[in-house]
Parts: sequence; C-alpha cells; structure tokens
Amino acid sequence: DAAEKGGYDHYMLKEIHEQPTALRQALSGRVNLDDGTADLDLEFPPGFLESLEEIQLIACGTSYYAAQYAAGLLERVADVRASAQLASEYTFNGGRDPWRTLTVAVTQSGETADTLSALRRASGAGVRTLAVTNTLGSTVTREADDSLFIRAGPEIGVAATKTFASQVTTLALLSLFIGRERGTLSAADARSALADLRGLPGAVQQVLDEADTVREAAETYVDASAYFFVGRTYGYPVALEGSLKLKEIAYDHAEGFAAGELKHGPLALVTDETPVLAVLTEGTRPAETLNNVAEAQTRGSPAIGIVDGTVETNALDVSFEVPSLGTATPLVANVYLQLFAYYIADLQGRPIDKPRNLAKSVTVE
Ligand code: AGP
Repeated sequence: DAAEKGGYDHYMLKEIHEQPTALRQALSGRVNLDDGTADLDLEFPPGFLESLEEIQLIACGTSYYAAQYAAGLLERVADVRASAQLASEYTFNGGRDPWRTLTVAVTQSGETADTLSALRRASGAGVRTLAVTNTLGSTVTREADDSLFIRAGPEIGVAATKTFASQVTTLALLSLFIGRERGTLSAADARSALADLRGLPGAVQQVLDEADTVREAAETYVDASAYFFVGRTYGYPVALEGSLKLKEIAYDHAEGFAAGELKHGPLALVTDETPVLAVLTEGTRPAETLNNVAEAQTRGSPAIGIVDGTVETNALDVSFEVPSLGTATPLVANVYLQLFAYYIADLQGRPIDKPRNLAKSVTVE
C-alpha cells in the first residue's frame, strides 16, 4: 500500500502532486501553436459547430464545478450560450432547438448515475452529445455520440483533485477548438490561450513547491469554526470546489460563495473564527473581491488570499502566490485550496482517502 502511494501518506496527496504530469498528458499532442488550434480529433457533422446556439454541460460535484469554469470559457471564446447544469436537476426544456444544441457530459468516472440519466434525457430529445471523461470504455463513452479523454490517469482518492485540473484543461482546449471552428476566436488569441495552458504544469509545480507554507497556514486555522471560500468569474467555481474539498475530507463546515454575494446574507455568519479564503488573481475581478474580503476582515475574519500581483493585497493575513496565466490562473490557485483542505483534514487525523459516507463513483440516482 505504501509503495502504491509513492511515499505519500495518502493517495490524495500523491494525486495532488501528480497534477503537473496529468496536465502534460491532457495537453500532449493537442496544442498546435503554429496554427493557433487545439487538435482534439473530434469530428462533428459539417456545419454543426457553426450553427450551434447552445452548449449545456451536465455534471455532478467537482465535475460540475469544472463544467461551470468551462461554461465561462465557452461563452467567452466560442461566442455561444453555455451553461453548467447539475445532472440531477437537468431537463431538456422547451424553446430550444435540439439540432443547434450540444450537451457535454463531464464525468471523471463515466459511471455517475445522475450524469448518465441526464445524458439519456438529452439524447432522447435528439441532442448531439459529447462525453468528457477520464475512463476509457466507461458507460458514458458508449452512450455519447463522441468522447474526449482528460488523460489524468487513475484517481484513487475519493476526493477528486487531479481530475478537476485535467477536466478544466481539456474543456479549455475544447473551447478553443470550438471557437476556432466557429471563427469567433482569432489565431493570435488562440495562440496566447494555448501558451497559457502550456504554462500550467510548471505553474502548478511552483504551487506544490510551497506545500510547507500551506501546512503552516493550516496549523494556524485548523480550529476554525467554519471556512468560507469566495471568488468571482472563474474564481467562483474554484471557491465552490475548495469548499467541497474541505467539507468532504475534513468534515468541517465550509461554504463557497460568489464574492459579491457575501454582503447579501452570508456576512452574518462571519466571525473571528471563520477564515475567508479568496481567489484574487487575474481575470477574477480581484479588486471587487478584495473589497468583499475587507468587509469580512472588518468583522474579525482572518483573510487568506491567492494572489498574482494584479491587485495590492498587503492587508491579507496570509497570501499564497501564483504566476499569472490568463483565464487559467484560477486553476492554479485551486491547487493551494486542495493542499489547504488536505492539511486541515490531516491535522485532524481524518481518513482522507475514504471519507465517511462517500463513494468514488456514485451509481445510484
Ligand atoms: C469530488 O471530490 C467527489 N468525488 C464528487 O463530487 C465527484 O466529483 C462527483 O461524484 C462526480 O463524479 P464523476 O466525475 O465521476 O461523475
């Protein structure tokens, strides 16, 4: 068992540290910087992408947050209406043209019952479907019209870590692919986005090299009564993912909020025992988020920020630095949140790889 964990105490920590490799695999052979295209080996019917009006991403849990991140990217670069929808809530509503809709099932395992059932609802309505998954030969690959693999390698820890990074990266490639096919994205803009994605493995490694400082912060805040995670735009799904990770493995109360929503209610929960963790990087409207964090700090909350120098963050109690990589920066920031959740759980002696009441793959609706 110890050998399989490669010297790490838990699979989760091993998998967090495998992210640079996983990301290299996700990008391998798919980044064409000369042409400014993502080579994804996907073939859609002629004219399909050009006439597309809507992309629906369906998923659960961590995969849903990856889908939420991707919906923002798709709207931006492919100029198409895109939304992330919880698979368990999905219905194919009227008023939509099934021939001009693409439904993307995002599922690491490819076996999640809620996601498969939503996929069947979409197929039943005549919608073209695409599976984005980690698992060759999984049910989702047999049922969707096309498949795109995230190539993260096996993930044993119940808490998804490297698969989230690989999902967002693969979906970012998909958004560039669709943007180029639709003619909404210039080769120059695609090249710049592709170069950012190519920078991901190195940037994530820089975060991993700071793991000890994250452990120190976890030691400071391990007795907190709750943890709040905030962010805007791409920082928002990352905040939600950070809070899910912490509640899953540490069993502590953690919530993710759109930073602007703090003042509309959650601020009532804030005390000097509730650290606020904020994504404050490029592309996440960090100045506005910082104002929201300051409101929590005024009420005694310790503030932990993930920063890239875009805004002045001297007032934070703890800052973790990431390099700027455009819209991919929040994905790098997420690695700090994974490490923070891991150390908060580890300091409390939790069974990190197998949290109570949870299964790696949820095959019931
Ligand atoms: C995340 O840490 C969980 N393991 C869970 O939310 C998971 O992402 C969800 O059940 C979806 O799984 P899937 O990607 O295999 O469909």
